Amino acid sequence: MSAKPVDFVAAIRTIPDYPKPGIMFRDITTLLASPETFRAAVDAMVAPYKDEGVALVAGIEARGFILGGALSHQLSAGFVPIRKKGKLPHETIRVAYSLEYGVDEMEMHRDAVAPGTRVLLTDDLIATGGTAEGAVKLLRELGAEIVGACFVIDLPELGGRKRLEDLGVSVKTLVA
Ligand code: PRP
Ligand code: ADE
Repeated sequence: MSAKPVDFVAAIRTIPDYPKPGIMFRDITTLLASPETFRAAVDAMVAPYKDEGVALVAGIEARGFILGGALSHQLSAGFVPIRKKGKLPHETIRVAYSLEYGVDEMEMHRDAVAPGTRVLLTDDLIATGGTAEGAVKLLRELGAEIVGACFVIDLPELGGRKRLEDLGVSVKTLVA
């Protein structure tokens, strides 16, 4: 008998008007707090990449760190953080980006990825794709070979998936 499929949509909470009026904020803390849905989400996210020779997972601050650590472990890969500006202690490269509800800058350590390294990018959600595009720019500046980008949630009406695919990055998400 096959196991009941996990309902990821039901596991995600929506908070209206956070952090700004008009934004429907998809809150994955409920999914993460459930052993069943967290495990199932990580298992489903890693499955397409098991034989892809991923050497590093790059996670975007902050919720991409939670997923990225778990994906790294499952793939026996390393983990590199992509952080909001001013948080990394060593020499960095930086990019400005805009997202659904603001603008910011993010950084990576200049020595975080050796050229040619096969990297999987991850975050909890892709909306406009501005954040993920910034991450792709940083990774490519370091010479990474981006195997793909995976997210729990896609908000397709905001166009992020297409934006990444136009950059030549394949995108996988659990729910749209
Ligand atoms: C959220 C989310 C993504 C980004 C997606 O992060 O975790 O990183 O927005 O939006 P976009 O596709 O429109 O760029 P947020 O900036 O809220 O940061 P946080 O995880 O530190 O709260
Ligand atoms: N990042 C950008 N848009 C978001 C949303 N609607 N919910 C959660 N994170 C987001």
